[in-house]
Amino acid sequence: MITLKSEREIKLIKEAGHIVYLALMAAGEACVVGATTKDVDKAAEDLIVAHGYNPSCKGYAEGDEIPFPACCCISVNDEIIHGIPSDRKLQEGDVVKVDIVADKDGYFADAARTFIVGENPEGEKLAEVTKQSFFEGLKYAKVGNRISDISHAIQEYVEKNGYSVLREFQGHGVGIAMHEDPGIPNFGKPGKGPRIEEGMVLAIEPMVCQGRKEIMESDDGWSIITEDGSLGAHYENTVAITKNGPVVLTNE
Ligand code: MF3
Ligand code: CO
Repeated sequence: MITLKSEREIKLIKEAGHIVYLALMAAGEACVVGATTKDVDKAAEDLIVAHGYNPSCKGYAEGDEIPFPACCCISVNDEIIHGIPSDRKLQEGDVVKVDIVADKDGYFADAARTFIVGENPEGEKLAEVTKQSFFEGLKYAKVGNRISDISHAIQEYVEKNGYSVLREFQGHGVGIAMHEDPGIPNFGKPGKGPRIEEGMVLAIEPMVCQGRKEIMESDDGWSIITEDGSLGAHYENTVAITKNGPVVLTNE
């Protein structure tokens, strides 16, 4: 079921979005050579908790999977999404995806960024194309369009740049739960899926592989890694659909 949010609800989701944004910036600052991914997770979690919000991913489970054990999904290099923070030490050139959801009083926001530890020109280009693909999709996130208009714009931009998009995971409605309808694939023909309406709140999240699009699940039950070992990138924002166009709720 797609829920439409009132202006008041969008305001509360934006407040959660601000905290997610600050937590992502804190995580990004913590992505330095020698830091563990647990250190990065802690930087974000401390900030969320200090503001009186909940780290929504902690303890989250779908069906009978193992509950996610941390605040952030932190995925390094060929890990593309859902990485579990660990004692792994970050190294020069690592491509680090951090995905954070926070909630308070039943309102949720969800966003992800890709950070580069030091320098990695290939990783930087991949991260930049992934980010821009979000903004290409965002252009179509307008009342009257259809969901797959967003999907198509993302896929087209990514593939034009020589990369590929994941098929198995997608964006989603968000706001009064972490995952709501509609699903928002990052590929497909335009003109399909639900019509976009005022009051929808959408987590649009391109997940991009440098090489082939095939992925596999790692032994930890969560991390999703590229089958060919190539780099992955992720960029996500929570977006409200208003009559004046899309408003990003997680970029400040
Ligand atoms: N933030 C992810 C998303 O974009 C969800 C992470 S799964 C969790 O949908 F278990 F970590 F919560
Ligand atoms: Co999401």
